[in-house]
Amino acid sequence: MTRPHRSELAVPGIRPELFPKAAAGPADAVFLDLEDSVPEAQKAEARANVVKALREIDWGRKILAVRINGLDTPHAHRDVIALIEEGGERLDVIMVPKVGDPREVFAMDLLCTGVEAAAGRARRVGLGLVIETAKGLAQVEAIAAASPRVESLHLGVADLAASLGMRTTQIGGLNPDYAGPGGMLDPWHFAVARVIAAARAAGVRPIDGPYGDFRDAAGLEAAARRGRALGAEGKMAIHPGQVASINAAFTPDEREVAQARRVLAAMEEAQAAGRAAVALDGRLLDIASIRQAEAMVAKAERMAGA
Ligand code: COA
Ligand code: MG
Repeated sequence: MTRPHRSELAVPGIRPELFPKAAAGPADAVFLDLEDSVPEAQKAEARANVVKALREIDWGRKILAVRINGLDTPHAHRDVIALIEEGGERLDVIMVPKVGDPREVFAMDLLCTGVEAAAGRARRVGLGLVIETAKGLAQVEAIAAASPRVESLHLGVADLAASLGMRTTQIGGLNPDYAGPGGMLDPWHFAVARVIAAARAAGVRPIDGPYGDFRDAAGLEAAARRGRALGAEGKMAIHPGQVASINAAFTPDEREVAQARRVLAAMEEAQAAGRAAVALDGRLLDIASIRQAEAMVAKAERMAGA
């Protein structure tokens, strides 16, 4: 898939008035939520809203996802059946929350295969797995590789904090108790880095978790840049006001791309001269620098063509 996946906006399934706004907005991906933003008594209503919206709203080229209820609830199997049987072909990804074991991913794959066959669905639905429990984090490599349907891993920060027993002040934010000299450290570092490594190893997209304080623009930008620095492909958003900043953070900027092109040119010259390591601006470049620079240029070109 070559579509960008920088920002991913959450929309509660019980607020259908927000669906057209999300569809018309600049988020690369939208996920309609049946899980934790929907009270227990409104699960069926949310499911009906979402099924209708999958069929009737023009979602453009967005990655369109629905987050189902947890596999240990009485709702999840009904969610899958309704989405695939009644939702039409447009749905790209089913997001599965609180994945804790690769066998859950295998079970989801089987369930989707059966329902797709029964519904005569032509296109295979993908899976986006939310890693947000201690168990899920501990088994994330096996989870990421458990089915060819897996397209992305998503860090769920609020539930993860609860599951790990972390003391956090706000969703995805920093904590002054976790500080070193010169400023605050990032208590999410381990989980973010771990999920990114597992996703990249499995060849799927790592998506960083949301930043809960949607009025704190500086905090969001810093969090997005931290995720990008570690290798995240994009970041979830819980408010449309966060999308532009996330898109900007995950778009290679002109300076970075120009520098990557200089690296490639310098390496080409070095190789022509029979060398594999060379200096540029007083810094070492070697073959690994080519891979990083090529990835950056390829990404910029993909986005320019998107
Ligand atoms: N998708 C699309 N549009 C949204 C939106 C969303 N998730 N959240 C807010 N909007 C719209 C509002 O309707 C409003 O539109 P208007 O300018 O046409 O009136 C505008 O954006 C500004 O919204 P605002 O009044 O600041 O927000 P709110 O108080 O209505 O809602 C939240 C705030 C956090 C409750 C809401 O953004 C939300 O539900 N976010 C998603 C939460 C979620 O799904 N969590 C679970 C997954 S992590
Ligand atoms: Mg959660």
